[in-house]
Amino acid sequence: MKETRRFPFFYMKGATGNSFHMNDTKPPEFKTQFAEDVFHGLTSYPKKISSKFLYDEKGDELFQKIMELPEYYLTGKEYQILMRHREEIGNAFASLEGFDLIELGAGDGKKTKVLLRHFEQKNYDFKYLPVDISHSVLDQLSQSLDREIPGVEVEPQQGTYMQVLGKLADYKERKKVILFLGSNIGNLSQQEAVSFLQKIRNSMHKKDMFFMGVDQKKDPQVILDAYNDKAGVTEAFNKNLLHRMNRELEADFDPDTFLHWPLYNPETGTAKSYLVSTKEQSVQINSLDLEVHFQKWETIHTEVSQKYDDTSIAWLAEEAGLQIAGSWTDKENCFKNYLFQTI
Ligand code: AVI
Repeated sequence: MKETRRFPFFYMKGATGNSFHMNDTKPPEFKTQFAEDVFHGLTSYPKKISSKFLYDEKGDELFQKIMELPEYYLTGKEYQILMRHREEIGNAFASLEGFDLIELGAGDGKKTKVLLRHFEQKNYDFKYLPVDISHSVLDQLSQSLDREIPGVEVEPQQGTYMQVLGKLADYKERKKVILFLGSNIGNLSQQEAVSFLQKIRNSMHKKDMFFMGVDQKKDPQVILDAYNDKAGVTEAFNKNLLHRMNRELEADFDPDTFLHWPLYNPETGTAKSYLVSTKEQSVQINSLDLEVHFQKWETIHTEVSQKYDDTSIAWLAEEAGLQIAGSWTDKENCFKNYLFQTI
C-alpha cells in the first residue's frame, strides 16, 4: 500500500461510524471534475455521487439499451406523443413564422426526427441547432440527418447547455424554440430544476418557446420496475459508476459487493437509486490517495429521477417566470410534453 500521507489527525467519523482518512499534508488537487466530485461525495455523509457521471462511454451505451427495455416506458411514450400530436405541436411552433429549433442534449435524435420530418414536409421555415458536449454525438447526428432528412438545415452547437444558451440569449433575429426531451429535468433536484428553468427563461425573448418532456406520477410499481428491469441493464448502468472509479481513479471497488437499489416515493414523486454495500469494507481510491470505509448496508446515492404532475410543473414554471402554453400526453397520462412561454 502507498505511503500514508496524513494531515495531522485528519481522521473523520461520520454519523454511523463511516470513516476515512485522507493521506496528504496539503489539500488535494483534482485532475478531473469526476475526481473532485468522487472525493467530496464519498467523504460526506451520507455518501453520494452525481448522476451526471453515469454517462461515460460505457454508461452511454447502457443508457441506449435502457431506452429499449420493456420496463423503461419513458422513451416509447414520448415517441408516441410526438408521433400522434406532431401536427398540433408543429402548428404551435409555426405560429412563430420562422424559428430556430435548439435542442438541449440531442443524443441520437430518434424522437426529434419525428418532428423534423414533419416540419420539413410542411415546408416550415426553421433551422435545427442540436446542442451537445460531445463532438462525436453531434457528428453522428448530423450525418444521420443528412442521410434521412437531407432538406433540414442543421447547425450543431458544441458545448454545455448553459454555454450555448448564454450565447443564444443575445440572438434576436429569429424566434427560438428550445427543446428539452426525455424527462432529463427529472435528474435535477427541485432547487436545481428551478435554477435550470430560470436560466432557460433568461435566454428567452417574448414569444420564444420552451418545449419539455416530463415523466408523470403514476402507479408506483410501474415506476419502480422502470428502474429495476429484469435483464439487469439498469443495475449495470448504476454499477458502472464503481467500474468507472476503478478505471479512471485507480480504485478497487468490487461491484459484486454492492446492490443496485432503486426506490420510489409516491408522496413526493421522487425515484432514487442507490448502491448499497453488502458488507463492511474499505476501498482504496489510489489516484486520490483516499481510503473509503463502508459500514455493512451503507449507501451511495447515485441518481434522482423526479416524477411530476400538472400542479408541480405549474409551480416550477411560475418559480422560473414561465407559463404553460400547451401540453400533450398519451392515453394513460404516463408522460407529458409541455410548451412554455415567458410570463
Ligand atoms: C436520462 N434520465 C431521464 C433517465 C431517467 O429516467 O432518470 C436516466 C436513467 N436512469 C436509470 N434509467 C434511466
